[in-house]
Amino acid sequence: MQSLSELTISSTLRDRFMNANRVLVLTGAGVSAESGVPTFRGGGNTAVWKGMPFDVISSAQMVQRDLPAVWEWFDYRRQLLSTLRPNAAHLELAKWQSRFTDFKLVTQNIDGLHQLAGSRDVIELHGSIWGGRCTTCHSRHEIGRAGERADACFDCGDPVRPDVVLFGEMLPAGSFEAAAEAAANCELCFVLGTSALVYPAAALPEIAREAGAFVCEVDPERTPLSDLCHEVLTGKAGEVLPLISAVAAV
Ligand code: APR
Repeated sequence: MQSLSELTISSTLRDRFMNANRVLVLTGAGVSAESGVPTFRGGGNTAVWKGMPFDVISSAQMVQRDLPAVWEWFDYRRQLLSTLRPNAAHLELAKWQSRFTDFKLVTQNIDGLHQLAGSRDVIELHGSIWGGRCTTCHSRHEIGRAGERADACFDCGDPVRPDVVLFGEMLPAGSFEAAAEAAANCELCFVLGTSALVYPAAALPEIAREAGAFVCEVDPERTPLSDLCHEVLTGKAGEVLPLISAVAAV
């Protein structure tokens, strides 16, 4: 990873940032890392819960087999999140939404930190940890920051599960379609803090590039998307995003 002083923002990115109207930003767990949210991968590690890889505990099968165990994992993550605050990357992106006429923020994160930073109309591809959903009638149940949640559906009484996309499940209806449309129409696409291993989210920068957009990645590590990007800034999102805004302000 380059130090911030070594990092250069190219004049091409600067010009694109200053002149773009339609901008798409795709974020992943890395954007919340500086807030203290553990990432799932990166640094050669993968998250494990009570000896179970996270993609096992966070799976549709586990909801069938042991819903209380799934809740235990999400209750732990939610309790952790309830103490954390947005970082400089979240705050910068909230500012960017009023900078561009057509700004779309698409996240794989379920932590709600973008919204806490002031971002509006965030497309949450993988749902939200601050919600539950009935396993039968699918009605949604808000979960407050104090963490109180319903085990049984208020409407039909059946079990409620976390309202997040688990491994082996489809994305919320319409969310990917809206994101893909934004990708196909954007002039500038930022990919921030994602290992780009999970599809269909990782396809969005590919769609943007295909459509002629300038694609820029920010990540301390190279990812499978790095070769596809016009510009790769190897650093932390909370440090690099304010730098981009600063360079464009000069
Ligand atoms: N700034 C930018 N990027 C960072 C930072 C940082 N401060 N810290 C870590 N990263 C990068 C890592 O190098 C890695 O490439 O963030 C990425 C995090 O990757 P993952 O943990 O795999 O997270 P993500 O890509 O969002 O995972 C996708 O997989 O586990 C499922 O549903 C879950 O939404 C998640 C999806």
